[in-house]
Amino acid sequence: MSAAAGRLGELLGIDHPVVQGPFGGGLSSVALAVAVSEGGGLGSYGAHILSPEAITDLVAELKAGTQRPFAVNLWVPLDGEEDLRPDDAELARHAERLLPYYAELGLSVPSAEEVDGARLDFGAQVDALLAAGPPVISFVMGIPPRRVIDEARRRGTAVIGTATTVDEAVALERAGVDAVVASGSDAGGHRGAFLRPVRESLVGTFSLIPQVADAVSVPVVAAGGIADGRGIAAALALGADAVQIGTGFLATRESGASAVHRRALSGPDARTTVLTRLFSGRTARGIPNRFVRDMAAYEDEVPPYPVQNALMQPIRRAAGGQGRAEYVNLWSGQAAALARGSVGAGEYLASLVEGAREHRAG
Ligand SMILES: Cc1cc2nc3c(=O)[nH]c(=O)nc-3n(C[C@H](O)[C@H](O)[C@H](O)COP(=O)(O)O)c2cc1C
Repeated sequence: MSAAAGRLGELLGIDHPVVQGPFGGGLSSVALAVAVSEGGGLGSYGAHILSPEAITDLVAELKAGTQRPFAVNLWVPLDGEEDLRPDDAELARHAERLLPYYAELGLSVPSAEEVDGARLDFGAQVDALLAAGPPVISFVMGIPPRRVIDEARRRGTAVIGTATTVDEAVALERAGVDAVVASGSDAGGHRGAFLRPVRESLVGTFSLIPQVADAVSVPVVAAGGIADGRGIAAALALGADAVQIGTGFLATRESGASAVHRRALSGPDARTTVLTRLFSGRTARGIPNRFVRDMAAYEDEVPPYPVQNALMQPIRRAAGGQGRAEYVNLWSGQAAALARGSVGAGEYLASLVEGAREHRAG
C-alpha cells in the first residue's frame, strides 16, 4: 500500500483511495470489480437483487478472481418497506397509467402475487453475505442492524455505510461502521436517504464532504459527480479520505451496462440528468428519456418502492432487450461527460490515480 492511499487504504489494505461504486439492478460485473481491485482500488459488486444462494456463489467467484480486497453491497430496507403489500385492486389502479407501455411492448400487468413473489429477504441476503466472508461489505439506504455489524467485526469483515446528510453520517458512525460514503446529490442511481425524505436530503457532493469530514472520525469516502483526477484532488482537499466513482466505471468496458445505456452516457442528455421516482418508486438520478418526460406529471403519484419497481420491471427488461432507450432506466451521475467512455477499468483507474497526483501536486 502506498502512502497516497490514506486512511481508507490503511483500513482496507488498498493502494489507491478509489472505490468503484457498486451497481445494483444487474449492472455490476465480477470482471469490473476484479479489474479495479487488481489495479489497487476497491472493486465493488451491488448484490441488492441477488438471492442468498447467488450471493454465496458471487463471493466465491470474486475470491477466485482476486486476492485483493473487494466489497459487496446490499440495500437496507426502509422502515415499513417490507410490509407494503398492495392487493390486486390497488395494483390495477397503479398499473393503469402504465397500460400503454405494457401494450406497446406486448406485456401483461403483473399480479399482486407476482409482485409479492419478487420481494427480497434482506435478513437472508445479509446472513449469506456474512457467511461468505467478503473482505468488505457496504450498505446503502439505512443503518445495518447491530447484529450484522457485530458479526462482521467478529469475522474481520470491514463495514462501510452510505450517508446523504451529515446526520446520517453521524448515525452510521454511532452504529459502528468502519467508514462512511458521503453521497452527494450529484451521484448517479438511487438516493440513499433514510433519516429524512429525499427532498430534504439533497446536499451536493462538495457541500457535503467537508461537513461530514468535520462531523465523523471514521474515514470519509466522497461520492457523486467525481469522474476524473481533478474531482479526486478536490474531494481529498475538502477532507475526504477517498472517493467512490460510479458513473465513470459504469462507462468502462467491463461493466454490465447495456449498449443503449453506454450510448446514453456519452450522449448530450447525460449533461442534464434528472431525479425521478418513476422507474422504481424511489428517487434516483438518471438521463431523461421519453418515459421520464411523458410521465412527469405522475412523479409524486407512483407507489413507493418496491411496488413501482415490480410494476416497471417487465417494461424496463423488455425495452432493454429491444434496445429501446426511451423506456429504460438510464442511471447516471452529473459528471458522465467527464468519464473516459469504453476504456478498460484498469486503464481508467490508472488515469484517475495519475490525474489526481498531478492536480494535488499542482
Ligand atoms: C447504475 C447505478 C447503480 C447503482 N447502484 C447502487 C447500489 O446498488 N448500491 C449503492 O450503494 N450505490 C449504488 N449506486 C451509487 C454508486 O455506487 C456511486 O456511489 C455513485 O454512482 C457515485 O456517483 P457518480 O455516479 O456521480 O460517480 C449506483 C449508481 C449507478 C450509476
